[in-house]
Amino acid sequence: MTELSPVTQTQAQKAPKAPTLPDAQTVTSVKHYTDRLFAFRVTRPASLRFRSGEFVMLGLMQTDEKTGKEKPLLRAYSIASPSWDEELEFYSIKVQDGPLTSRLQHIEPGDQIILRPKPVGTLVHDALLPGKRLWFFATGTGIAPFASLLRDPQTYEDYEEIILTHTCREVGELDYGRELIENIRSDEMLAELIGEGFHEKLKYYPTTTREESAKMGRITDLLRAGDVYGDLGIEPIRPETDRAMICGNLAFNLELKAMLEEMGLEEGANSDPKQYVVEKAFLD
Ligand code: A2P
Repeated sequence: MTELSPVTQTQAQKAPKAPTLPDAQTVTSVKHYTDRLFAFRVTRPASLRFRSGEFVMLGLMQTDEKTGKEKPLLRAYSIASPSWDEELEFYSIKVQDGPLTSRLQHIEPGDQIILRPKPVGTLVHDALLPGKRLWFFATGTGIAPFASLLRDPQTYEDYEEIILTHTCREVGELDYGRELIENIRSDEMLAELIGEGFHEKLKYYPTTTREESAKMGRITDLLRAGDVYGDLGIEPIRPETDRAMICGNLAFNLELKAMLEEMGLEEGANSDPKQYVVEKAFLD
């Protein structure tokens, strides 16, 4: 064991004792994707069980301006890691004047965050009736719950085909999803659990709207125009075969929800499973 140098000892004695935060977890890694996006991993509370696709409240302590007391500032964050992972992963936007993410973006390994271990949410397998194809429709950080579901063996056991669409403004914003798909396709554990060739079940459809990329356009427009079906070589969405989960910005959620309803799909819930479910990607 290395002893602390006298200087460090003095500092250690003088340093205020770190407050013991309620529901504190320790940051284990942080990865910045763009100046607007980052992902981080934290320790997992031993008691935390969750269903892939659910979210928890997490955040940091902040000083109440009026009372001067420390209190938690929490926001809803989808768990991006699968339920078998020993750590928890999150994918976040950085808002420069956002109350939480203006500070959260500076976390480093070893720092503490607060995480309430009460997972909830509608983007879960239980809220959908059995089907043949499962669509994950995401914009921006709305891909987070699907990053969990796409690493859950049940997704591949329950469906013949899984299609992830991800629409972002710029190309760099697709990196997290692209990396995720590459890792899933080369994951030996998933291949062993689900069977070789499972990745052929998984189709990935990234698009951008404000920067040139291989496929440009909003997914809603690309569905209407039939590009999605043509590009992937698949049949159009039908209520008999298709199930869908939607997670993105509000306008996107509403537009896609209306389109699916028009195609004959109905919105499900935990207590009343149907053909599709929707959840807002939470912003700061
Ligand atoms: P667009 O650039 O055409 O607005 P944001 O970063 O604002 O949350 O947007 C993420 C992505 O969602 C962007 O590519 C944006 O396209 C797209 N988007 C926004 N509104 C809709 C909508 N109503 N339908 C489909 N895509 C949308």
